[in-house]
Amino acid sequence: MVLPSADRLAELRAKYDEADQGHVFTYYDSLSDDEKASLVEQLEKFDPKYINEITNRALNPPAADESKTGTQLEPLPKSATASILDSEQDDIDAWYNQGLDLIAQNKVAVVLMAGGQGTRLGSSAPKGCYDIGLPSKKSLFQIQAERIRKVEQLAAKKSGGPAPVVPWYVMTSGPTRGPTEAFFKEHNYFGLDAANVFVFEQGVLPCISNDKKILLESKSKVAVAPDGNGGIYEALVVQGVLADMRKRGIEHIHAYCVDNCLGKVADPVFIGFSASKNVDIATKVVRKRSANESVGLILLKNGRPDVVEYSEIDEATASAEDPAQPGVLKFRAANIVNHYYSFRFLESIPAWSKDLPHHVARKKIPTVDLATGESIKPAKPNGIKLELFVFDVFPLLELEKFAMLEVKREDEFSPLKNARGTGEDDPDTSKRDIMAQGRRWLEAAGAIVEYESPDQGVEVSPLFSYVSHYPFSSFVGPAVARAWRS
Ligand code: UTP
Repeated sequence: MVLPSADRLAELRAKYDEADQGHVFTYYDSLSDDEKASLVEQLEKFDPKYINEITNRALNPPAADESKTGTQLEPLPKSATASILDSEQDDIDAWYNQGLDLIAQNKVAVVLMAGGQGTRLGSSAPKGCYDIGLPSKKSLFQIQAERIRKVEQLAAKKSGGPAPVVPWYVMTSGPTRGPTEAFFKEHNYFGLDAANVFVFEQGVLPCISNDKKILLESKSKVAVAPDGNGGIYEALVVQGVLADMRKRGIEHIHAYCVDNCLGKVADPVFIGFSASKNVDIATKVVRKRSANESVGLILLKNGRPDVVEYSEIDEATASAEDPAQPGVLKFRAANIVNHYYSFRFLESIPAWSKDLPHHVARKKIPTVDLATGESIKPAKPNGIKLELFVFDVFPLLELEKFAMLEVKREDEFSPLKNARGTGEDDPDTSKRDIMAQGRRWLEAAGAIVEYESPDQGVEVSPLFSYVSHYPFSSFVGPAVARAWRS
């Protein structure tokens, strides 16, 4: 590595001094040449004044208690929503067919958000590599890749033409990129053509101490963290994803989270629904289980689509009933971070991406003591990570450009968040939910399966079937069920 010139160094120091962040050079003079060069390279990537600005904005957001601010909250109107739970099968079929046609025309892409560090799960590998304990031992990445392969086959079958391509854009971050790429290569891209799998990287931001100072991870390195799943927008532009989509003629994009083992990747129903409504963003939701379930809600806030966290609404609002459906919650649209975007909307990212707000996540951040130079592994949160949220873009849209599709939780949402043994959103619940779905599918297709206990399920490969309402072909029956039973 080349040492920075004296002028370049002086300019950089002045910039950090002016922003009252000059302490990042505390140990500079004691570093080796390589360490000096890498610290300077890292510091040059950030604008300390901008970091101060976003920190201050994140720490002093507008008042959050909606009940006290006169904010108007309403469920999204019927015109913007549909529900798989009570839609006519004919409508669902029409969306499905339209979605498959768009896939057959090579107009659909998927974007995977896999840049999170999965701290609650506690695995050292990226979440997508995780084996949730299925009989096949498939990782989350493999399950998702096979869903893409299957949907490509279904679209080709319907159109009678050549197999289309659904390009897969995989967003990683500093910590997850290397191991994700290695895992994909090691598994031969799970049968997909590597030319259609595009791994890219979201940005990072410095971690900040409780007194608003940039934290050093070591004497020669700033502590950094991925900039949240909302970092997707800037990354799509700067990492060349939008350019690649443009080249391929992509018009419809499905974006989803790596940790939802039931996620229907490139779901034709969702694509068809969103395209038929000609919206710029659509979102899937599941029905909130109870008034006090801790989930974000999708609703209208002062006339704009938005997400409101459970902690931001009062009890009366949380437990209000839908006047049209007694016994059903009025605000029931639980956010599962599963979105449709039109390509034309993503092209507008540069016009607004810098305005998205950052949020504060208080964390235990390993750092170095500036007085003694010793490493500190804090036992309690000692600072903040700044995060963008992917759904903060919703309020930018007029209502007529936004839609919401309610889907069945048992068919579409089971996130892997926590370590095994937690009993909630952990590897065992992921496995259970996939196997329960397989059992439902087999039984709906007329298979007779003998179980040793009532809660046993069946693993059905995504390569056999993508979705239940277009049931298996006749070759999937009890023989297969026996083979995969556990
Ligand atoms: P979570 O907020 O659940 O975070 O991410 P996480 O990293 O998976 O887990 P914890 O909080 O550290 O335990 C929801 C989705 O957003 C993605 C994750 O990969 C997951 O698919 N994500 C999160 C990113 O892509 N980038 C980020 O910076 C953060």
